[in-house]
Amino acid sequence: MDCRYCHNGVETSSLAGLPATEVCMTCHSQLFTNADMLAPVRASLASGKPIEWQRVNTVPDFVFFNHAIHIDKGIACETCHGEVDQMPLTMRAHTLSMEWCLGCHRNPGPNLRPPKDVFLMHWRPPADIDEIRRQLIGMLDIHPETMTDCYVCHR
Ligand code: HEC
Ligand code: HEC
Ligand code: HEC
Ligand code: HEC
Ligand code: HEC
Repeated sequence: MDCRYCHNGVETSSLAGLPATEVCMTCHSQLFTNADMLAPVRASLASGKPIEWQRVNTVPDFVFFNHAIHIDKGIACETCHGEVDQMPLTMRAHTLSMEWCLGCHRNPGPNLRPPKDVFLMHWRPPADIDEIRRQLIGMLDIHPETMTDCYVCHR
């Protein structure tokens, strides 16, 4: 399934967002309607109380982060979150520490993809990827020379 079906803020807002119970029920009112694993989803629908998903990725309040800009500039979900489609329980794939952010902000080139491919899992770069990445820096208007300034992430 496309990530945006459930995380529908990811292209337009700072938050990716988590799906409402009704999103699950578009399919599960017909599929696996009695599965034990889906009991909390049925209970949530019946009571109108949202499911309390356990967050695994967070940065402190004093850090400014925005999903939409990364998606626009060719950084994939997989690059920051790992292969979530292979995780029986969602877990944090990277530290999300300042050093981790800076590691990419100092030199984003090797992490870029054509923006149309950012939602793909298990992406394999084409043979001419180095040339594509050189072009993307210009086409996407990326400025590594200012990306490590403190105010970018602390406003
Ligand atoms: C059917 C709906 C659905 C789809 C499709 C979906 N997700 Fe999720 N995702 C969820 C739900 C519900 C959670 C919260 C439960 C959990 O963490 O396991 C979640 C959690 C996550 C988290 C962890 C959030 C956190 O910090 O706690 C990440 C990262 C994530 N999804 C990425 C993705 C990516 C990338 C894709 C596309 C490849 C995707 N998801 C597709 C429903 C979905
Ligand atoms: C577009 C349709 C669709 C949506 C929306 C959807 N699912 Fe599913 N779900 C499926 C399908 C299809 C399967 C069976 C997959 C398989 O057997 O490989 C499944 C399987 C499951 C299972 C495993 C059931 C079992 O007993 O093995 C769980 C749990 C589940 N979904 C939870 C959720 C939750 C929670 C949401 C909302 C965040 C959700 N699903 C949204 C289609 C959907
Ligand atoms: C540049 C790295 C990066 C990329 C790319 C990225 N994320 Fe995230 N994601 C984060 C960070 C950092 C957080 C924690 C944000 C916070 O605490 O405000 C997060 C949090 C989340 C969450 C938890 C809920 C929320 O809204 O914060 C979900 C779900 C999620 N990401 C899904 C995705 C999906 C789907 C994609 C691809 C379309 C994606 N992310 C791309 C770094 C990234
Ligand atoms: C894998 C690469 C990568 C990682 C990891 C990453 N970023 Fe970025 N980030 C980028 C790129 C590329 C841009 C776009 C820069 C530009 O347009 O010049 C960007 C832009 C931003 C911007 C917007 C700057 C503006 O112009 O307003 C913020 C804020 C930001 N990142 C915060 C973070 C934080 C916080 C983290 C760590 C939690 C992080 N990023 C991790 C690649 C990354
Ligand atoms: C690309 C994003 C990014 C940039 C640029 C950045 N930081 Fe940070 N910074 C972070 C993140 C993410 C954290 C939170 C780390 C954590 O939770 O461990 C952080 C944490 C901090 C902290 C708290 C450290 C602690 O131990 O609690 C300080 C102080 C700080 N940054 C100062 C700076 C200064 C000064 C600059 C400029 C020289 C800077 N940062 C540039 C992302 C960034």
